[in-house]
Amino acid sequence: MSSYLKSKKFLVFLGKSLFSILVALTFTVIPKPRKSVAGEIVLITGSGSGLGRLLALQFVRLGSVLVLWDVNTEANEETRRMAQEAGASRVYAYTCDCSRKEEVYRVADQVKKEVGDVSILINNAGIVTGKKFLDCPDELMEKSFDVNFKAHLWTYKAFLPAMIANNHGHLVCISSSAGLVGVNGLADYCASKFAANGFAESMFIEILAQKLKGIKTTIVCPFFIKTGMFEGCATGSPTLLPILELEYVVQKIVDAILQEQLYLYMPKFLYFMMLLKSVLPIKTGLLIADYMGIFNVMDGFTGQKKNA
Ligand SMILES: NC(=O)c1ccc[n+]([C@@H]2O[C@H](COP(=O)([O-])OP(=O)(O)OC[C@H]3O[C@@H](n4cnc5c(N)ncnc54)[C@H](O)[C@@H]3O)[C@@H](O)[C@H]2O)c1
Repeated sequence: MSSYLKSKKFLVFLGKSLFSILVALTFTVIPKPRKSVAGEIVLITGSGSGLGRLLALQFVRLGSVLVLWDVNTEANEETRRMAQEAGASRVYAYTCDCSRKEEVYRVADQVKKEVGDVSILINNAGIVTGKKFLDCPDELMEKSFDVNFKAHLWTYKAFLPAMIANNHGHLVCISSSAGLVGVNGLADYCASKFAANGFAESMFIEILAQKLKGIKTTIVCPFFIKTGMFEGCATGSPTLLPILELEYVVQKIVDAILQEQLYLYMPKFLYFMMLLKSVLPIKTGLLIADYMGIFNVMDGFTGQKKNA
């Protein structure tokens, strides 16, 4: 490449970079426009309780067609009933154990025939063992990976081709702050959430490289939420790392989807924590984590009473 072309390439890169920073700064002052999801087919896994259920009810208000997946039939039927009561005209509930690849593919085919192409896929189903690594039976660790991570592979395989064909879609990964930092007593959960993050981020890049601008990704990493999943856990730093209200988290996730935001960390302190993790000496980082009680967050864990 001639030196003229090299300088031209560099100037274009510089101009585009500065412009992207300017756009990002503008949207910190004025809110980014929200897209419409009316009529979109939204599939939510783990819709039988907590986050999944409340997300479903929010999408009813936005006029979407709902596809609800959960391993717990009764709980999922209850979400369907609540969605209908909230005014949903098209809501479909399917029993699906997302940890089983063949079942995911089978139910996905049924959805395509009975409802149509899913355009917003929310991988939300999740489980936690809450055991220290050496105390955790192998089958439970495998289950964590199957539900929290591998299910994302199978749902992408099932629904991404139609999104690519239509150059239209949104892939949402409900991960966790435990997908960003290792946590004492959560090794299998953290590993599965790191995997989910890595997969969603890689797919974001892979889709971008194919210039499929109509397919968006949102990766959600919340700290503890009051859903019962992490019942008994406490925060040593309620001001900076509060246990989050479910309604707040759901509103933030919906906003992030409508505004096509790639990363959503909650609470905001997590963004700063990630910066500290990258730049501080390890010992200083560990001292801060110890001061904030982060090593002991799992000490009182009892977990969900009605685990799937
Ligand atoms: N609650 C928190 O503190 C917290 C924090 C960060 C991230 N998250 C993540 O948010 C997501 C939702 O969590 P929640 O707090 O609403 O939990 P929850 O236990 O209330 O809901 C999880 C749902 O997933 C379903 N599920 C479990 N295994 C399944 C399977 N094999 N196939 C299909 N469905 C299955 C359950 O039946 C349940 O309805 C999870 O991915 C979780 O890891 C939760």
